[in-house]
Amino acid sequence: MKKKQIAFPTQGLDKEALLEKLRLLKTDDARWKMGRTFAHIYNPGNDISEMVREAYNLFYYENALNPYAFPSLRKMELDVVGMAASLLGGNEETTGTINNGGTESIFLAMHSAREWAKEHHHVTETPEVIIPASAHPAFHKACHYLGLKPVVVPVGTDYRVNLAEAWKAITPHSIAIIGSAPSFPHGVIDNIPKLAELAAENNLWLHVDACVGGFILPFARKLGHLIPDFDFSVAGVYSISADLHKYAYAAKGSSVLLYKNAQLRRYQLFTYTGWSGGIYASPSFGGTRAGGAIAAAWAAFNGIGEAGYLKLTEKTLQTVRRLRQGIENIKGIKLITPPDISLLAVGSDKLDIYAIADELSEKGWFINRQFKPACMHLTVCPIHADVADEFLLDLQQATEKVQKLSFTRFANTMQLAAVKGLKKILSPENFQKLKSLTTSGKSDNVSKNSSVIYGVFDELAGTSELNNMVIDALDNLYTNLED
Ligand SMILES: Cc1ncc(COP(=O)(O)O)c(C=O)c1O
Repeated sequence: MKKKQIAFPTQGLDKEALLEKLRLLKTDDARWKMGRTFAHIYNPGNDISEMVREAYNLFYYENALNPYAFPSLRKMELDVVGMAASLLGGNEETTGTINNGGTESIFLAMHSAREWAKEHHHVTETPEVIIPASAHPAFHKACHYLGLKPVVVPVGTDYRVNLAEAWKAITPHSIAIIGSAPSFPHGVIDNIPKLAELAAENNLWLHVDACVGGFILPFARKLGHLIPDFDFSVAGVYSISADLHKYAYAAKGSSVLLYKNAQLRRYQLFTYTGWSGGIYASPSFGGTRAGGAIAAAWAAFNGIGEAGYLKLTEKTLQTVRRLRQGIENIKGIKLITPPDISLLAVGSDKLDIYAIADELSEKGWFINRQFKPACMHLTVCPIHADVADEFLLDLQQATEKVQKLSFTRFANTMQLAAVKGLKKILSPENFQKLKSLTTSGKSDNVSKNSSVIYGVFDELAGTSELNNMVIDALDNLYTNLED
């Protein structure tokens, strides 16, 4: 496809015309305000999201890079880090920073682990990080940028990291081990106390990824739910990532990374004093940091408070129960595993779950698809209490529709079977065909009839061919192409 250049506007638009254009641009976006998205958005309901928005707006131009220019942001950051530490089993020694998101928190934790290992290990080859198969790709991304070797260990039948395999994976080059609370794909919490024992025996840095769970698990526990130990109450946990822009309901662009103590955080801090521009010092990866995101996090914690978070968590977990019951009552589909909290993986032994997801997309639901096993993923939030019944009805109808052996489904099955057969002998030409099917750059193609494509992805998950295809697709997505 031909690339096109975008001209710079010669004149600015007037405000109303400009805002109208922006509203128009939103037309095809996922309708998160109505609770139609089960991914990417953590919606506590309108009152709280508006309060967070107003707090963000109060600091929308401020820059947390310089705490002397904006002492308010420094205070808010210290408050938020301190409050997060007290929720997550920390004490007065626990410290951290606010970062742009889970990925930045994870990147910084892996960087600190690498620098710490230089002092505490005699690793002569590439340092290795032991990563459960269920852990977020942000760990692989961090390894990619930081020159670390990811060593993937499988999960067990309960989808938690297989501890025997984790033990086997430890070598003299290992520096860190990861546990999730919970893992994104199946919503289960790894056995952190056992991982801590492994880490202590082998002098490894243990990072707990509580990006999703950090601000819901502590409240679920207070409500009486059985939540296994996962935080600083477990001796041996060095760092925890917990996203403010997930279940803390803050604005996008905020996560905390907590360290057990200030010595560990020192590996993260950066300064360059030889610059003609003056002393440069920065606590995290970003230089300029969005003041609005910090203010929004502070507002969420202080505006919602423990009582509010308990209510929101209760609402979420009631909705999880309703959805679980409803799913269990629909013939042909099932939960892949009982979740520990609010992330559900829904699959099927007999039916094409991606075709069911397509039917739901047609009805305006936004849902992620996962692989091995093929399933769809629901991130449940308080807003879903309002739409759970409608969703279950649509899910039931979608399942029934897919159950009826339609011609499309037959054709899909045949195509998928062909691809499965092709997999072993995938020639470059065949691959080109597959590529044109998957990388047309039109996202609506993917959502409207994606079951074959996702079936292919499930088959090829983790292969270099699929990696290359996805990188091509990404390249296309961020290139201006002629329509
Ligand atoms: C368990 C877990 N860790 C890390 C991340 C990465 O967070 P972010 O997308 O904010 O960088 C996610 C995102 O969904 C996640 O679910």
